Amino acid sequence: MTPKDQPARAAVLGWPASHSLSPRLHGYWLRELGINGTYRAIAVEPENFSDKLRALAAEGYRGFNVTLPHKEAALAAVDEADAEAERIGAVNTIVVGPDSRLLGSNTDGHGFIENLKANPAGLNSGAIIVGGPAVVLGAGGAARSVVAALDNAGAPEIRVVNRTVEKAKALVHDIGRKKGASITVFSWPEREKALIDAALLVNATALGMTGGPALEIALDNLPPGALVTDIVYTPLITPLLAAAAGRGNPTVDGLGMLIHQARPGFHAWFGAWPAITPGLRENILAAAAC
Ligand code: ATR
Repeated sequence: MTPKDQPARAAVLGWPASHSLSPRLHGYWLRELGINGTYRAIAVEPENFSDKLRALAAEGYRGFNVTLPHKEAALAAVDEADAEAERIGAVNTIVVGPDSRLLGSNTDGHGFIENLKANPAGLNSGAIIVGGPAVVLGAGGAARSVVAALDNAGAPEIRVVNRTVEKAKALVHDIGRKKGASITVFSWPEREKALIDAALLVNATALGMTGGPALEIALDNLPPGALVTDIVYTPLITPLLAAAAGRGNPTVDGLGMLIHQARPGFHAWFGAWPAITPGLRENILAAAAC
């Protein structure tokens, strides 16, 4: 086989890695587009992350997704990271450049915003984002990406609500910009107060995921036009989204965030922009339910 005939290879690196839906997602796109490529999940122990990353790049991999718990380590391991990854403090996508140089980026926030914009309900979510305060529940890695993305998209005010207030304060310190959104911190018991006058509510915690602890929040203070979205997509309609829809709020589910964050990596490694279709969503949901 000549190098030209060899499949383009990419992988997701995690610990564990087997639960990742990324192989399913990229595999679907590779088949749909008829691209000679492979995408697999590789379990990498945290202590070996940097060495293993370099070894795989030297083997000829075009690039990687990085999932828990390696996203912060990936920022330290790459040769160059884009401004968004530096700001968030984590890398989720790596492209192997000439001389095996590793270029890191973070596409989670891009996935979040694109998912809102491409919502099937046809909502003008761009107007909602800039139209009033956004409430973000959580201050972990996912919340960092969401807050940075909302700030980039022009949200005037972001209210970060977190159980550990210190972690929310650290987020504001790291992500806040002088000329960006006004970012304020609310404690977990204040979460319902934070909903007053909000234009957008985002659950950026894992609460509400199938088999995990529930997200307990009363929506009475949330204006009826506020958009509600969840990064959790198992179940697709989380109890939060069901409660919001039940009182007439527009909602956007979280599956599209996973799909949209994957597109820039696919394009960089395999040279085509993949489509987001109902068939793809069904395929991913079928795997997520297993
Ligand atoms: P990720 O990187 O996926 O965002 P993480 O860094 O572990 O994951 O963050 C999980 C988020 O869910 C955090 O904001 C966490 O709150 P703390 O910072 O106080 O830990 C939040 N979270 C997890 N369990 C929670 C619970 N039972 N009640 C409230 N918040 C919770």
